[in-house]
Amino acid sequence: MSYNFPVTRTTHPKPRPEDETKLGFARFFTDHMFVMEYDEGQGWHDGRIVPHEPFLIEPASAVLHYAQMMFEGMKAYRRPDGKIQLFRPDRNVARMKNTCERMCMPEIPEDLFLAAVTAVVKEDADWIPSAPGTSMYIRPFMFGDEVSFSVLPAKHYKFMIILSPTGSYYAANDGGITTTRIFVEDEYIRAAPGGTGYAKVGGNYGGGMRASEKAMQYDCKDVLWLDAIEHKYVEEIGTSNAFFRINDEVITAPLTSGTILPGITRDSVIQLLKKWGVKVSERKLSIDDVFAASKDGSLQEVFASGTAAVISPIGWLNFKGEDYEVADTKVGPIAQKLYDTLYGIQTGTVEDDMGWTYPLGF
Ligand code: COI
Repeated sequence: MSYNFPVTRTTHPKPRPEDETKLGFARFFTDHMFVMEYDEGQGWHDGRIVPHEPFLIEPASAVLHYAQMMFEGMKAYRRPDGKIQLFRPDRNVARMKNTCERMCMPEIPEDLFLAAVTAVVKEDADWIPSAPGTSMYIRPFMFGDEVSFSVLPAKHYKFMIILSPTGSYYAANDGGITTTRIFVEDEYIRAAPGGTGYAKVGGNYGGGMRASEKAMQYDCKDVLWLDAIEHKYVEEIGTSNAFFRINDEVITAPLTSGTILPGITRDSVIQLLKKWGVKVSERKLSIDDVFAASKDGSLQEVFASGTAAVISPIGWLNFKGEDYEVADTKVGPIAQKLYDTLYGIQTGTVEDDMGWTYPLGF
């Protein structure tokens, strides 16, 4: 099915960020956004591109009270020939389907979702940066805006896509990667079995703010969550999935508990490591084993993976104020190779022999 979305162009184009090497993460937003409505019985309708600006919302809208919402994260990349491409957008569609099912929200058909992303990215394509380490972050999100205080799925939803020219999430945006310090949280939890941990919903992040605040007090950039039952096994990092390289085995938490977000970068890392013949395991790993490995020198690397985080190496794990060093605290070889390969495939400087890129045709 082909879609043709009406466009209302802004009459006040924004000034572009002055320095592409200092974009930070989601500090600038482009001129336009995509908006679409859903009504029970009618389905999705009125997809359109409009200026990116504040919009009115009824104070009694369900989302403002009961948080029935979801979001996705993806990026558009500028290739050396100037053309634009996405990275594995089919995986965003698949994850969104699972999130919507969990949240009793209406699915968006894959062709409609991709047409909407393509249309809004095309509209603001000249905002896509090309400096090393940059890309255009794409944030699709959906919320129930039925005017209702019933604790029941809404009957009306809005779906929007906003765009942000972006650099690195954690590190200085100099186009490279560097190590950060992460706080190990053993008091609060992010997700429990049966909850929404595997779904991309705002509540997973809102509930994590208390721990993020603690992390900042210890000069850490983010939180490493432990499991909800025993507060013992490593799960994921606030914005991303976590990988630990110990004695040449790269370990990440399994998806089976339903508490881990199935990251698209996580899956790409696992596939690349397997291709390179690196031993990679999706298994439980206790934080005590990580600390012991730090002490005896067998903790070779720790890194985060995510759309925003890309590959973010970790140099220190901080637990109750004590730093546990990861190897020599410098960027490790596997993290560096993964970053170079993934970002290279994404931006078209490394051949995509995995079939992951999705050229937009402009
Ligand atoms: C992403 O990587 O796309 C995310 O959604 C992480 C975000 C919470 C910063």
